[in-house]
Amino acid sequence: MNEHTPSFQRPFDDALKGLGTDPIPAGVYYDPDWYRLEVEAIFRRTWLNVGHVCELPEPGSFFRCELEFANASLIVARGRDGAIRAFHNVCTHRGTQLVGAARGKAATFSCPYHRWTFGNDGQLLSAPDFERFYIDDKASCNLAEASVDVCAGLIFVNLDRRPRQCLREFLGPMGEMIETLPVSRASAWDEYVYEIDANWKVTFDNFQENYHLRFIHKRTNGAPPLETTENPYNYPMGFELFGPHRMNTSPGGSVLDDPPKPLLLQLLGRMAAQFAEEGLTGGAHDRDYFIFFPNLYVFGNPSMHFTHAVLPLSAERSRGVFRFYWNGEPSGARAHLARELALAFAREIHTEDGDVLMKGQKGIGSGALDHFHFQSQEVMCRHLYHSVDRMVRDYLSEKGGAR
Ligand code: FES
Ligand SMILES: [Fe+2]
Repeated sequence: MNEHTPSFQRPFDDALKGLGTDPIPAGVYYDPDWYRLEVEAIFRRTWLNVGHVCELPEPGSFFRCELEFANASLIVARGRDGAIRAFHNVCTHRGTQLVGAARGKAATFSCPYHRWTFGNDGQLLSAPDFERFYIDDKASCNLAEASVDVCAGLIFVNLDRRPRQCLREFLGPMGEMIETLPVSRASAWDEYVYEIDANWKVTFDNFQENYHLRFIHKRTNGAPPLETTENPYNYPMGFELFGPHRMNTSPGGSVLDDPPKPLLLQLLGRMAAQFAEEGLTGGAHDRDYFIFFPNLYVFGNPSMHFTHAVLPLSAERSRGVFRFYWNGEPSGARAHLARELALAFAREIHTEDGDVLMKGQKGIGSGALDHFHFQSQEVMCRHLYHSVDRMVRDYLSEKGGAR
């Protein structure tokens, strides 16, 4: 057994040990040149979750999605044929953005400049004075597409028109596992969005280690005294790697167990009962915390089922989107309250984290450290670092360059 693996936890396997124990180079968490490489090597050519099929309930439903790291704006739309497509929000005449609304329903998208009009399947339908152009093939003026696919109801886009892997291949076995979670059956959602002055990996890492819980979330999560349980710090029961993705298993036990918990945690227990009534419990994987490369968490815990995507905005700024997925409208006051509480809890936890994340970025970004350190219980953060590093290096060797 790894000497740093607590007795309640599955011993680290060879894949985890293979990540090593070296200090981590600090530059990749703030250096703008490295950030640009990450955008090219990863974010411009990988699958990113941008929404859920319940946002596109009928033909013509659409939402706009901004991917600032690529200066891209996409329209994700369900066509008349029921298919979901993703288009660049860019008129093929002279590039004007077509859609300003965040979401809606439309049979066509008309450019505000010269009124070229496109169907919700991306086809150019009409263009005033089209015969005066020098274009033989009208279809060549259809909207530029991005790749799009769905897993567990979650819509993923890939800016690469010809992705190296299809979505299922990319998600691997964890893709099948999340099909069992309530998110795959959801028909409504609530969200909590934040922006923060922290590199996307700094933001993301905060949600894949439990080392900080006892210091930062004492008020919301409680801090049972050491002698009451063999796992006082809520460390995961085990970690597992699936290629660039990873998962951990949350500690068992009821949120209503003794010793008495802080008020918010007690309420969380009441929420769990409500969500069970609504069929929102996670089943076989309801203790598993799925962490998809590069930037998505999916969690199906009975009291806290959510997705959380972290998008890069710049080398030192990121945006997080927490999504809570539900079955239909709340059935009554109790269901309504449970949903509000879930959102309030996420916001509260995140507010507790925000300050140290920004302080962390300021410290790392000062350049004072060449390296920093991850302990054995921060092994998921170490795996993200390794996965990013490998993909950037693969990209550089594909391009024939070397860093
Ligand atoms: S730029 Fe869109 S119609 Fe001219
Ligand atoms: Fe936290």
